[in-house]
Amino acid sequence: MAKVSVIIPAAGSGRRFGARESKILQPIGGRPVFLRSVDAFAAREDVCEIQLVLSAADAGEVARRFAGELKAVGVRLIAGGPTRSQSVRGALAGVSEDAELVCVHDAVRPCVRPEWIDAVFAQAHRTGAAILACPLHGTIKRARPDGVIAETLCRDGLWEAQTPQVFRRDILLAAYARGTDATDDAELVQAGGHPVTVVACDRRNVKITTPADLRFARAVFDSLQQ
Ligand code: CTP
Ligand code: MG
Repeated sequence: MAKVSVIIPAAGSGRRFGARESKILQPIGGRPVFLRSVDAFAAREDVCEIQLVLSAADAGEVARRFAGELKAVGVRLIAGGPTRSQSVRGALAGVSEDAELVCVHDAVRPCVRPEWIDAVFAQAHRTGAAILACPLHGTIKRARPDGVIAETLCRDGLWEAQTPQVFRRDILLAAYARGTDATDDAELVQAGGHPVTVVACDRRNVKITTPADLRFARAVFDSLQQ
């Protein structure tokens, strides 16, 4: 069975969320968002380690409230950087050499399901680089800054990238050794010349950016428990 090292970036500042308490600490099904993301990996037999990347602003509270629980499941806490890429880069330095695959999963996608993780792990095992993604179904417009539509895009082949994003360890390390900043890891790997495969998921794998996303995520979480 492939050994997977999991990195959970949680070190953002939640600027677009805008609340006083960090979005990673908001409850979903009675547990903080970031712990739901940890839970998705903690009990898996194919996961050999988990690193949780935290901002200086949240690290104290997380350690105070959850250190015991995180230690019990072997989660290591890492200090984040000023951008998501830099947060991931910091954790990459701590990835064990035994790991065959490295999985990066944003803390703010707490609804991820075991069967979706199974599918993206299996694809990464086959091809070396795979991500969950959601095919676009709507009619996609590009508008000018004044709001007037400039064009309708052809949505054929368009996907919205999600996480988990999973790579062979050597491929991700090489991409980060070469790469500058990118919004996701797939972009860095692809820029390094390695093809990345999408694995179809759907909008239930919601990313919490705004308070409205949190309300949607809670509804999705509840519906997935039934
Ligand atoms: N992240 C991180 N380190 C950073 C920035 C982001 O670990 N310097 C993490 C976030 O905590 C989140 C994921 O990367 O789990 C995706 O980032 P995003 O949704 O943009 O969250 P924030 O950066 O916190 O939000 P915003 O951009 O609105 O400030
Ligand atoms: Mg951000």
